[in-house]
Amino acid sequence: MERILVIGGARALGAAVARRAAKDGYEVVVGARDLAAAEALASQIGATALRVDLQDEATIAAAAAGLADGVDHVVTTASAPHDVRAVELDHDSLTAAFTAKVIGPMLVAKHLAPVLRPTGSIVLFSGVVGWRPGPGSLVKGTTNGAVEFLARHLAADLAPVRVNAVSPGVVDSGAWDRLGDAKAALLSRSAATTLVGRHGAPDDVVDAVMWLLRAGFVSGETIHLEGGARHRAA
Ligand SMILES: NC(=O)c1ccc[n+]([C@@H]2O[C@H](COP(=O)([O-])OP(=O)(O)OC[C@H]3O[C@@H](n4cnc5c(N)ncnc54)[C@H](OP(=O)(O)O)[C@@H]3O)[C@@H](O)[C@H]2O)c1
Repeated sequence: MERILVIGGARALGAAVARRAAKDGYEVVVGARDLAAAEALASQIGATALRVDLQDEATIAAAAAGLADGVDHVVTTASAPHDVRAVELDHDSLTAAFTAKVIGPMLVAKHLAPVLRPTGSIVLFSGVVGWRPGPGSLVKGTTNGAVEFLARHLAADLAPVRVNAVSPGVVDSGAWDRLGDAKAALLSRSAATTLVGRHGAPDDVVDAVMWLLRAGFVSGETIHLEGGARHRAA
């Protein structure tokens, strides 16, 4: 049975990947900075849980030690948005955003490379904002863009372990529930920016992640899951 660590795995798209992986017969380890939330999901799906906070390298090292007998795949969905204009940037929030998407995954590679099986893979999470600049998207867009290059360079560094990224458009993952009544308007606006006329569903993303785990001839790629949004005139 292949083992998969899902970082950011306690909720939203991370939890959706963890649930599907468990259903598909993977041995799932839910990694999250909120250990109680990771344990709650793990107990529902027959998985185990580890505390992983990408801002805390010691937790990444400890996770690698806990997986010393090997791991096949690592998926990291972590994101710490800092959606402000340049003049409003806050250094700590900026650092947290780059840590969640770029620096943290590099440290994951550092600590998990020795235990990743050579037939295995890493899947990173980017996002369509990297390719569609707008007011307040400076940090998210730049970190998402960096993820594409991280996948390429990490794939070369860790070969034969494969490294790829997925880049979702707006997905009703649960992350937008915090908007309350404004969520429906956001989803409908985002649907209008695609070629397929709808917003994303978690399964759109999970299907691609599960395919990448098995796609043994694909490495260093970013798969865009946004209904063609990059190809539609604004
Ligand atoms: N949903 C969308 O519409 C959409 C669109 C484009 C791209 N994406 C990308 O898809 C990925 C998943 O999105 P989502 O909808 O599932 O978003 P989400 O609900 O915001 O999930 C982000 C996850 O990152 C975790 N996280 C944040 N900082 C972390 C850290 N330092 N260490 C470990 N985990 C950390 C959060 O954990 P806590 O629970 O502890 O906060 C949460 O589980 C993100 O990278 C996002 O940018 C999503």
